[in-house]
Amino acid sequence: MTAHTRAGWRKGLVVGAAVLGVMSIAACERKGGRPGSDTGDIRVGLYASLTGDGASFGQSSREGGELAVREINAAGGLLGGRKIDLLVEDDQSRPPDASNAATKLITQDQVVALIGEVASSRSLAVAPVAQRYHVPMITPASTNEAVTKAGDYIFRVCFTDQFQGEALSKFAYTDLHVRRAAVLKDITQDYSVGLTASIQQHFTALGGTVLEPVSYSGGDADFKAVLTAIRRERPDVIFDTGYYQEAAVIVRQARELGMTMPILGGDGWVGNSLANGREALNNTYISNHYSGDNPDPIVQTFVRDYRQVYGHDPDSLAALSYDAVKVLADAITRAGSTDGPKVRDAIATADVVGVTGHLKMNAQRNVVKPAVIQAVTYANGKMALVYKTTINPDAE
Ligand code: PHE
Repeated sequence: MTAHTRAGWRKGLVVGAAVLGVMSIAACERKGGRPGSDTGDIRVGLYASLTGDGASFGQSSREGGELAVREINAAGGLLGGRKIDLLVEDDQSRPPDASNAATKLITQDQVVALIGEVASSRSLAVAPVAQRYHVPMITPASTNEAVTKAGDYIFRVCFTDQFQGEALSKFAYTDLHVRRAAVLKDITQDYSVGLTASIQQHFTALGGTVLEPVSYSGGDADFKAVLTAIRRERPDVIFDTGYYQEAAVIVRQARELGMTMPILGGDGWVGNSLANGREALNNTYISNHYSGDNPDPIVQTFVRDYRQVYGHDPDSLAALSYDAVKVLADAITRAGSTDGPKVRDAIATADVVGVTGHLKMNAQRNVVKPAVIQAVTYANGKMALVYKTTINPDAE
């Protein structure tokens, strides 16, 4: 840790303590704010993996969500001056804890809506809870098809894995000219299992060959045996459909085994410890929701404001979480109410220009958006995501 970040951290502690003090006063004074009530702060719950395997996901989504709330409140709040009070719960990267966190936010804190989660397995654990209590939930980043099928109170502001698998397949087949694909999947994650199926379907439809997918379990640290088995099949591309922590290890061990072919991942590779893959990350590519290089003023303003507040660049999760809060705020405004069913109906007709694209809700409670393909590069001790191309969805 550099002196600079240490000082920043200490300052963070002091500010944190001050904020805690203010929060406890606010808690005593809180009146109203309940679903359907028309006075007091509007309580929104954000549940996230602030600790555990997916900590990078949780921290980014918290920061993005908080930035949106800060802007909305600074601009006067919603419904004639009511501030959003964002209550954040840590689910420790575990589906049962996510479900408990959401239950607490709904039944004790009486939040009017939920923002979360990033990982599809955890959104899937919470969706039935939100549905049962008729509390609208917007997942910023869960791409698994099943998530929004859980019920009519469940929405997302990202594309789905049906499309993400197609985008990755198209890029691999037409831009990288590869034909024979191996796939590694994390069988403990709904996201990875679904994305694998999508790649199998789309890469095959394009004319490529997909070898029998090879399974691992999140948390595994030694992939040499599975990679050796893959090497024997002589693929010219590998898709790793899991999350960033294992991806960093997989790329390193693959390169150590002399496997130089391109390795592709989905959005799940977006996380701080992906950088542990170091030089082995060269010749890898991911599909993503957003690129910070996008010159669009809405993106550049977001990047600038985010840097100012947090001192580092936003990743795609931060951008999606920011967008999810903006969609919710717009829906509350149009509903003229914080009543669950009314807010739900308003989210269902969302049509908002976001940092990650045009957020227009379709009848399946999904948004249809392009994916960006980025090259992951690593040089001079620094990882970067370099924009390559945009893959557009077919017209619906
Ligand atoms: N799409 C992943 C999932 O559903 C989550 C994710 C989104 C991770 C965006 C990183 C970036 O589990």
